[in-house]
Amino acid sequence: MVKLIGVNKINTSVFISGRGTNLKNLIEFSKKNSSPIKINMVISNNKKAYGIRYAKKNKIKFKIINFSKKSEINNLLKILNYNNIKLICLAGFLKILSKDFIKSFKGKIINIHPSLLPRYKGLNTHERVLENNEKFTGCSVHFVNEKLDGGKIILQKKIKIFKNDNIKSLKIRVLKEEYKLYPKSIKKIFTNY
Ligand code: GRF
Repeated sequence: MVKLIGVNKINTSVFISGRGTNLKNLIEFSKKNSSPIKINMVISNNKKAYGIRYAKKNKIKFKIINFSKKSEINNLLKILNYNNIKLICLAGFLKILSKDFIKSFKGKIINIHPSLLPRYKGLNTHERVLENNEKFTGCSVHFVNEKLDGGKIILQKKIKIFKNDNIKSLKIRVLKEEYKLYPKSIKKIFTNY
């Protein structure tokens, strides 16, 4: 496996909207020698996002962006380019990025989704999976294109649904897998891990 020291690591920005536990997990991952990324910047569309505290705690720059304002998005693009950001990880980011934004970072934006894509795109995946009496669920990391949760899949993890599972238990069990799958997917992209 390729060892990357700090300076060689890929400059990364994580976009969040809320709780930010995947951000927390990616920050921990980024500190490892074996991680191909370093996290330079956290972007939130929500100034009350709980996850911002993980950026503060780790002294990572963060910015609150109003994604409804074109001027703020243009400014964000400049900031990302100025900071030489080569990877954007969406982690519980609830805004849909514009086509232009995606074009500017073509092939460099990835997302984690709590279902076995292409099934159950969009929100409330666990509710819908349980309603349909599915036997399996899981999580997927994929490239972001202009179609919602529709880009090329990088990695997926499948888990079994138990008879006594409910929304809460599924959320917990899938999240646990997300924390392994997101770093593994990043390694896959950059180091053919
Ligand atoms: C995760 O389940 C992720 O798959 C989905 O949103 C949730 C974010 O959780 N896209 P957190 O904010 O990382 O805790």
